[in-house]
Amino acid sequence: MTSMRAMVQDQYGAPDEVLHLREVEVPTPAPGEVLVRVRAASVNPDVWHAVSGYPRLMRLMGAGLRRQKQPIPGLDMAGEVEKVGSAVVDFRPGDAVFGETHDRIQWTNGGAYAEYVCVPQHVLALKPENITFEQAGSVPTSGIIALVNLRKHIWSRPGQRIVINGAAGGVGSIAIQMAKAKGAYVVGVDHATKLDYLRTLGADEVMDYTREDVTRLDERFDLIIDVASSLSISDCRRILEPDGIYVMIGHDHYGAKGRRTLGGIPYFLGFMVRARFDRNLDKSWFETMEKRDALEILRDMIEAGQLTPIVGRTFPLAEVPSAIQCLQAGQACGRIVIVP
Ligand SMILES: NC(=O)c1ccc[n+]([C@@H]2O[C@H](COP(=O)([O-])OP(=O)(O)OC[C@H]3O[C@@H](n4cnc5c(N)ncnc54)[C@H](OP(=O)(O)O)[C@@H]3O)[C@@H](O)[C@H]2O)c1
Repeated sequence: MTSMRAMVQDQYGAPDEVLHLREVEVPTPAPGEVLVRVRAASVNPDVWHAVSGYPRLMRLMGAGLRRQKQPIPGLDMAGEVEKVGSAVVDFRPGDAVFGETHDRIQWTNGGAYAEYVCVPQHVLALKPENITFEQAGSVPTSGIIALVNLRKHIWSRPGQRIVINGAAGGVGSIAIQMAKAKGAYVVGVDHATKLDYLRTLGADEVMDYTREDVTRLDERFDLIIDVASSLSISDCRRILEPDGIYVMIGHDHYGAKGRRTLGGIPYFLGFMVRARFDRNLDKSWFETMEKRDALEILRDMIEAGQLTPIVGRTFPLAEVPSAIQCLQAGQACGRIVIVP
């Protein structure tokens, strides 16, 4: 096999204009890389940023000034090891794996929307045995974000009261289940059409953000995970315990707020400065985990039945632009997955 089908991005722009299905060369793994036959790859908001090129600042942060250096989008996936580089010791051909495809910033293309992708071995782990490739491909990026942000606040303090705002998307679907596994009481906030879904994930209370304001609840919480990044910190203070924590995940809503050049970056920087002096703000914003370690925790939780990855919808490789459009329209609960 020397060629493969891949979704190729020629320039920055609207997904349906700049993405094209092409026959390209199968990549060759470097010494520390694994060539994976992709069985499923996820579609998350970072893919929209990488394809559209917004905020423009990301182009200076390693993505590529005029076009993405890696022309094939897709940041995380699950598949089977086809071939390993000369220095690879952790995997062998035939292993079923899942993971992200690189450890650069999320707004750079990762090559997963193809039949094969080369991945550094340290960002991969063996796939959980009890789920499908589609489910496994839906987990890495969303799961790592959920885990990093929940672990530092609730792992050693079970039984907390938590609000998850934007709870039905990729990150929220995992965060609810993780929080419940740690004995938390969870209020899930999302669109009216997704509230039954939140209940099936285990949410104790659900709220429709188009009709109700979670910050007006007559209850107190230990933690607010704001995936949709739509809540004001001062409003959140009303429902936080005195030492409760607000965590902003950082959803830019596909450029809906304008901010095409700098995006939410100035806000994040301001947030980090404020967090030094504000006891209710998450101070460990940049604290992260080794991806392999995070994937192994996610695998253990999945195999223990504490976490069931939810695939909202699947699309074939040729329909990546429609898949991104579906994500943008907020039509799916859980993660949208590409099946090459
Ligand atoms: N902090 C980090 O470490 C980190 C790292 C990488 C990426 N990220 C960011 O994390 C985000 C991940 O989000 P995701 O993948 O879960 O997104 P998603 O799948 O798009 O889910 C977002 C959910 O929020 C809902 N929503 C929209 N507006 C809302 C509002 N005002 N109030 C409450 N809910 C609302 C959406 O529903 P409707 O649209 O249907 O209304 C959707 O169900 C991405 O933006 C990504 O860029 C963060």
